[in-house]
Amino acid sequence: MAVSTIIGIDFGTTTSAVGVFQNGRVEVVPNRHGDMETPSVVAFTRDGIRLVGRRALEYSILHPESAAHRVKLELGGTWTFEHAHERHSAEEVASWVLNDLRESAEAHLGRKVSRAVLTVPAQFNLVQRTALAEAAERAGIEAVRMLNEPTAAALHYGFGHGEEHAFLVFDMGGGTLDVSVVEVGDGVVQTKGTGGDSNLGGANWDRRIADRLLAEFARQHGFRPNDRAALRRLEDAAEKAKIELSSAGSTAVSLPCLAVDGHRPVHLETTLTRTRLETMTQDLLLKCEQPVRQALDAPFGINDMAEVDRFILAGAATRMPMIARLARKLTRGREPQRAVGPYAVASGAALQGALIGGQLNEDLLLLDVMSLPLGIETGDERMCLVIDRDTTIPSRRSEVFTTVWDGQAVAQINVHQGRRSLARYNKKLAVLELALPPAPRGEPSIEVAFDIDANTVLHVSAKNLDTGETVSVRPDLRTAAHAALQRSDPDKAVVVREL
Ligand SMILES: Nc1ncnc2c1ncn2[C@@H]1O[C@H](COP(=O)(O)OP(=O)(O)OP(=O)(O)O)[C@@H](O)[C@H]1O
Ligand SMILES: [Mg+2]
Repeated sequence: MAVSTIIGIDFGTTTSAVGVFQNGRVEVVPNRHGDMETPSVVAFTRDGIRLVGRRALEYSILHPESAAHRVKLELGGTWTFEHAHERHSAEEVASWVLNDLRESAEAHLGRKVSRAVLTVPAQFNLVQRTALAEAAERAGIEAVRMLNEPTAAALHYGFGHGEEHAFLVFDMGGGTLDVSVVEVGDGVVQTKGTGGDSNLGGANWDRRIADRLLAEFARQHGFRPNDRAALRRLEDAAEKAKIELSSAGSTAVSLPCLAVDGHRPVHLETTLTRTRLETMTQDLLLKCEQPVRQALDAPFGINDMAEVDRFILAGAATRMPMIARLARKLTRGREPQRAVGPYAVASGAALQGALIGGQLNEDLLLLDVMSLPLGIETGDERMCLVIDRDTTIPSRRSEVFTTVWDGQAVAQINVHQGRRSLARYNKKLAVLELALPPAPRGEPSIEVAFDIDANTVLHVSAKNLDTGETVSVRPDLRTAAHAALQRSDPDKAVVVREL
């Protein structure tokens, strides 16, 4: 009997990769150009032809307005990409990339594919996760599991290692930094703590360099180019220079005809050294430390770097030598491991797919976590946590609340996710309203239960323990969009019921 393959997809901010499990091992799938990585870029040509991947990236350099980049960071938000008077959501643009990846996997396997394990940054909230699942669905892919990216990398790395190890995975890609502490051994891969910065990645370094190149151009020529194509070329040159400086001590940047001064074409020519790059991005390096501390500070985690056996660098941005230096500093001089290849995340996802699909019969228990805490807003506008950060999933937790006012007719349950203590700064996922029979304040007992499955799908219910009446919701993209428009009503507020 042919088993349908569950592929593993690492949909990245800048590049994506697909893994499949075949002939007893994971294979990373080449795309139609023979590349193992596909740029997560979409562009439309003048004739309306849609390009995805490398060709889209190449086209976008001369026609920046025609392309959508870094769409992963926009999932679940209100961003749109406008082309030929049509607006496309982030989910739609992402679906074109995912579709391309699915086709590559099908060409490689020689059969149809309809299911995948998808990876997400550990710091993705539930709305971003459902947005990715929706994008996958539009691409004809059922997301059978959402796996945290560092957990996937650890799974790839730890698979087949019998002994017990604690890994710290430091995964910095184009747009995000994700840190996880993972324990591997004895058939269990368990994430113990996570931290991250969803706004810190290789692109931050690129922007710094681009700013400096711009300043250098202005110094040489007395004006700043401001058309999009010139700025796009600058950004592109900045990224190339950064990559070059990972192996070389200095690099020449040369951009002929970057702008015109009157009728005279003007060029940018300069050099950049690694030392200079490192000095001008010291603050970015410092920002990398906080997520590491966060991951080591989880409620049930490994709280001491001395207990971490291996510091693993994943994500291509960690090829900058300054990142390896940071790792040595944080571990008091130990050498980090770069054994995780660029495809570790996709490989881990494919392994998980094979485990779920039964192609791989191993007793392997994968315990992932929900990184960001979940809770509801109480009368003082604070976040009352129902599920703490880094809780192993699946998980079900509940808390009992009561009313704030005499005769309060409705209890409003505002569901939020995030680390901030004031609820309004966290992502609002859904709003539930439970009608109440007249009672003095503080009398009713309203049990709010959060149920989160292995797929990080949440169900929230509110039950009046006196009458048994229950309302429930499964927060997703739509409920979150709706909730965002709804203001919390102080007349319907709830507080924790002290027992
Ligand atoms: N040799 C190198 N030295 C430094 N940076 C590099 C090197 N090669 C690639 N990069 C940078 O790594 C980043 C892309 O990393 P990667 O492909 O791991 O990210 P991603 O998976 O697309 O992003 P994310 O995981 O954040 O969604 C880009 O910023 C790129 O410029
Ligand atoms: Mg990545």
